[in-house]
Amino acid sequence: MREVDAYLGLGANLGDRERALRVAVQRLQATPGLEVVACSSFRESAFVGEGPAQPPYLNGVVHVRTALPAATLLALGKALEREAGRALPAPRNQPRPLDIDVLLHGGQTIDTRELVVPHPRLHEREFVLTPLRELGVDVAALARPARPRVIHDPAEFAAVCTGWHEGGCQIGVVPTMGALHEGHVSLMRLARAENDRVIATIFVNPLQFGPKEDFAAYPRDLQADLGRCGAAGVDLVFAPSVAQMYDPGFCSHVAVGPAAEGMEGALRPGHFSGVATVVARLFALCRAHRGYFGQKDAQQVAVLRRMTRDLGFPLRLVECPIVREPDGLAMSSRNVYLGAADRRAATVLFRALCAGRQAFAHGQRHRDALLEVARTVVIAERRASLDYLELRSEPDLEPLPAGPVDHGRLLIAARFVDGARPVRLLDNLSLTGPGA
Ligand code: PAJ
Repeated sequence: MREVDAYLGLGANLGDRERALRVAVQRLQATPGLEVVACSSFRESAFVGEGPAQPPYLNGVVHVRTALPAATLLALGKALEREAGRALPAPRNQPRPLDIDVLLHGGQTIDTRELVVPHPRLHEREFVLTPLRELGVDVAALARPARPRVIHDPAEFAAVCTGWHEGGCQIGVVPTMGALHEGHVSLMRLARAENDRVIATIFVNPLQFGPKEDFAAYPRDLQADLGRCGAAGVDLVFAPSVAQMYDPGFCSHVAVGPAAEGMEGALRPGHFSGVATVVARLFALCRAHRGYFGQKDAQQVAVLRRMTRDLGFPLRLVECPIVREPDGLAMSSRNVYLGAADRRAATVLFRALCAGRQAFAHGQRHRDALLEVARTVVIAERRASLDYLELRSEPDLEPLPAGPVDHGRLLIAARFVDGARPVRLLDNLSLTGPGA
């Protein structure tokens, strides 16, 4: 490999910080295959980052010329950190006797589990930018990575994901149709905590809308969505157009079985086949290790769990709890279309479910009696027209026979038709699992 100019960021905030930095520079000078060209002055800066307060850092940057690959420089840095007394692997955001980051490595971009170059937070860190400027690096000319990165083209999306796979990254995907709210964001946060790379997909999927449904009117606001994704730590947003997602010859669809029968499946013929088809296509493109879905759409989760198993996607489906407004209404992209009176009335779904759950807690075991308790609550709200109210088994949502039940999930859908535009809302609640 030919020689490149590389820049290493040095920092310390425990023990004799200046000595630790000087020793590190000496060790670098003594390393075969690496020439130290220059070293910036060391500057003190207050700790920036998450977690409890920490002592201030002393930071500097070293310019080296080397033919060593970036991964070798990273390993060298880790060896020097250990030598300085740092126990590795170390938890994030802890005080440290020495920290060495590979900031730049020639013009290379690297995106693996261990190493991202140029350093992803370089532009946000004055304690790195100032020494880089001192060493003559034109930091303004360094491309600032878009956060999150946005890709529209499926082939490009698949290629980035392949790179991540090759770099040993665990990938989490959060499929959405956009108009993002806290419910979606909760999925992204969980994905962030469990994966090295997080993808959110934003695509209003025509295959899952019936001809009389609200595909055209579905709320769309990509800019606002990107802000939410960025704040939730999403690395990449895949937002294809319909033509990009489905080329003109597209004709293969996933057929779905009993999990898609009844409830949403009965009211929206073809809906779950459309959902399964787009999700299968997304899984195939990104080959994520984990897919995050909300329990809010419980039947969708049941259909996708079956599809994932049947088609053999090597992915763990992660079910996430329902996020609600303070008054109990389940968050939904369609809530924005509720007029003020319907918005107040819409809490009836959750109230009905809670009444059923409470009756169960108080000893009521009969399926139809539990349903009747919940139905009575809905019927009292004149603005709501009930589409269905069912008690199904967990986790697969199979119909439960009449008679006593020892568990189950209540599922409800209702329409609010008096506003400017009719709105359908869904909700569900387990009789026995974690509550509201
Ligand atoms: P969408 O309605 O945008 O929802 C995306 C994901 O967010 C789904 O898994 C949904 O269950 C979850 N979600 C929505 N509201 C939630 C809430 N209040 N609490 C927790 N999770 C919530 O569901 C779809 O899109 C589409 O059918 C899709 C799977 C993307 C396929 O097109």
